[in-house]
Amino acid sequence: MSRPLFSQKTNLSLKGAIEVAGDKSISHRSLIFASLAHGESKITGLLEGEDVLKTAAALRLMGVEIKKNNDSSWVVNGSGFSGLIEPSDVLDMGNSGTAARLMAGLVTPYNFTTFFTGDSSLRKRPMGRVFEPIKEFGAQIISRQNGLMPFAVIGAKNPTPISYKMKMASAQVKSCILLSALNVNGITTIIEPEKCRNHSEIMMQNLGLKISCENFGENGTKISYKGMQEFDAKDFNIPGDISSAAFIIVAALILENSEILIKNVGINPLRDGILTTLIEMGGKIELLNQREIGGEKVADIKVESSKLKGVDVPAKRAASMIDEYPILAIAAANASGITKMNGLAELKVKESNRLLMIAQNLQKCGVEANMGEDSLEVKGGLKIAKNIAKISTSLDHRIAMSFLIMGLTMENGLEIDDSAMIATSFPNFEKIFANFGIEFKAPDQL
Ligand code: S3P
Repeated sequence: MSRPLFSQKTNLSLKGAIEVAGDKSISHRSLIFASLAHGESKITGLLEGEDVLKTAAALRLMGVEIKKNNDSSWVVNGSGFSGLIEPSDVLDMGNSGTAARLMAGLVTPYNFTTFFTGDSSLRKRPMGRVFEPIKEFGAQIISRQNGLMPFAVIGAKNPTPISYKMKMASAQVKSCILLSALNVNGITTIIEPEKCRNHSEIMMQNLGLKISCENFGENGTKISYKGMQEFDAKDFNIPGDISSAAFIIVAALILENSEILIKNVGINPLRDGILTTLIEMGGKIELLNQREIGGEKVADIKVESSKLKGVDVPAKRAASMIDEYPILAIAAANASGITKMNGLAELKVKESNRLLMIAQNLQKCGVEANMGEDSLEVKGGLKIAKNIAKISTSLDHRIAMSFLIMGLTMENGLEIDDSAMIATSFPNFEKIFANFGIEFKAPDQL
C-alpha cells in the first residue's frame, strides 16, 4: 500500500548529534560472509532495512541460522561452504539489486537450482550483467527476455575459475564474481577498469582471506583470488551509511542555522564523492575523529548551513557517489548557479530511471533541470511552483527522501506519491526529522 507524504517550507534547523542507519552494502555482505564462515558471528550496527532483511531471509532459506539478539545485535551461525542447502522456495529479493546480484553469485558454484524474483521495480532492472560471469563459471541461467527477473541459476556441477574484465563500474557485479570465486577451485581474476566500492575485498581481507588487489591501468584494479580458503567466524561492526547520511548532510546545509554532528559514518574513499562535491560547492563539512573499523574508514561528520554554489561534477567521480545524485540534485537546486553532473548512464537502471525522475520532479518544483544522454544540468535558486508539486517516486527510496528534503525549502510544499519504500534503506529517516520537530504528514492529516 502506498503512503503519500507532504513536505513544506520550514524555519526549523537541524541541531545536535545523531547517528544514521547502518551501511546497506556492508550489511548485506556481513550476513553473507558470516553465513560462509565457521562458527558464530556477532553483527552490530546491521541495517534493519527491508533490503538487508531480504538477504537474511534468503540465507535462512538456504539453511543458515540468523537471529536478532535483545540488544539489537545479530548472530549468524555459519557452517562453511558446505553449510548451504538448496532453497526450498523462490528467493524474493524485494526492491534490492544488491541482494539479487550478490546472492546469484553466491549460489553459482553449488550443484542445485535457485529461483529468484523481486518487486515490480527490481523486475525491470538488468540482470544480464551478472549472468555473463555466472555462465563463465559453468552455471546455467533461465530468465525472462532481456535478462529480466524472475530467473533461475542452475548451479555449476564442476565450476571453473574465470578471468573477467568488467564492462561497467559495478560493485554488485564484482561482488557477485568474488562470492562465486570463494567456492571455486583455482584462481579467479577480475579486471575493473574503473574502481568501484571495495567493501567485499575489505571484508575478505579482514576475515583473513588472501586476496590480491593491484592497481591496473590509470584508474582500475586487478583482483585475484584463489578459491576454497575456508575461514572462521569473526564479529562485524557496521558503520553508518554515508548514502543515508547524505540526506541529513544536504538538509543541514540548506536549512538555515543548522549545525549537526553525524556520528560513526563510513567514509570509504570509493564512497566519498558526495563529500568532495558538497565541499567544492561551498558546504561547511568537517570530518572529525577519523578511525578505522573492520578495515573501513569511519568518521564523525560535522555540517553547518552554508551558501552553496553550482559546480561541474566530473564523470570519473560518478562511481564514488552513484547513489547520491538524487540528493545532490536537491543541493544543486538550492545553490546559486548551475551544477552539471556527468557520467550518469548507470542512474537509468537503478531502483527507477533516476536521471529521468530527478529531472522531471525538479521541473515540477519549478526548477530548471535539463537531462542529457548521461548528464544532468540543474539551475539553482528557482522555485516558482505555484501549487503543491506532485512528485512521483516510481518505487525509489532515494527519490522519495530527496524530494521530502526539497519540500522543506518550498513555499507551497510538495507531495510525494509514496514513502513506504524508504524502509528499504533508511527505516528511521522520518523519526530523525521528527526529533528536530520536522514532521512529514500524510496529505489526509493536513
Ligand atoms: C552497491 C553497489 C552500487 C550501488 C548499490 C549498492 C553494492 O550498485 O548503487 O546501492 O552494495 O555493491 P552498482 O554496483 O550496480 O553500481
